[in-house]
Amino acid sequence: MPDVLISENIAGNAVDALATRFEVIAKPELWRDPQALAEQITCVRALIIRNQTQITAELLRSAHKLLVVGRAGAGLDNVDVSACTKAGIIVTSTPDQNAISVAELAIGLMISMARHIPAADADTRRGNWNRARFYGTELYGKTFGIVGAGRIGFLTARRAQALGMEVLAYDPFISRDNVFLAELNARLVSLEDLLAQSDVVSCHLPSTPQTVHLLNARSFARMKPTATFINTSRGDVVDEAGLLEALRSGKIAGAALDVRANEPPIAAELEKLPNVLLTPHIAALTQEAQDRVTNAVCDDIARVLDGMPALNAVVSF
Ligand code: MLT
Repeated sequence: MPDVLISENIAGNAVDALATRFEVIAKPELWRDPQALAEQITCVRALIIRNQTQITAELLRSAHKLLVVGRAGAGLDNVDVSACTKAGIIVTSTPDQNAISVAELAIGLMISMARHIPAADADTRRGNWNRARFYGTELYGKTFGIVGAGRIGFLTARRAQALGMEVLAYDPFISRDNVFLAELNARLVSLEDLLAQSDVVSCHLPSTPQTVHLLNARSFARMKPTATFINTSRGDVVDEAGLLEALRSGKIAGAALDVRANEPPIAAELEKLPNVLLTPHIAALTQEAQDRVTNAVCDDIARVLDGMPALNAVVSF
């Protein structure tokens, strides 16, 4: 009987090391088949997942021996943590390990938008030399607003500040004397003020009942017509219909999205707009981040199987 089941594409030295101590079975496509997952989960003590495997209360009814679910990543929107807690199953995640990579992609998207890099590249490859067509804007001296001032928001804002941008932050869960805000010399403001005053709005929110569609038509209507919106967090924090309308009508200048309401997206309307830059949820996908994520999740799985507390346990009541 295997000890550890891996239901998504997670591999590397840490997994190999785990397999020297425990019986590990890797089925990278198992997440696609909930019925097969329910069958496989009955006898294992640990499950390692990314963001595709849905951990539901119903699935847990088949998890007779499960001690721990290890989420290789930060977001827990695919895990019913409260059902796990009730069932006595530990959930671990890797909250910090990919934060630098996400911050770097957010900054990359911002610079790409400001200087039209993808469009200029595509045009030049077509044999053109349209210098005047790709006039950009400087970021220096502009205002960068983070919606969500957790680890990723902070690391992104620090990089924006290094470009000479002023930082505004909105986060209902931090206070004005927060040490990261102090280090950034950032102003904590209301969401309305952040939207109205920022030249770039960058979203760093988890998906929760409180954040779903937090950024909607009304929010985009408050933004400057010259502003850019960036989302590297979760797709459902944005009402895509509201964003589409804001981009079509010129309420905002552009948007860069690494995450979507549906992944892969169903309606390809945003894809048709020239003022949109799209990437397929790659913010955390760097070798460095994935090495850290895999090490951290495998370490915690080994700790729990050895009877020790997990370092990154998450509970919900
Ligand atoms: C995360 O939540 O860690 C990133 O969005 C990547 C992922 O979902 O695996």
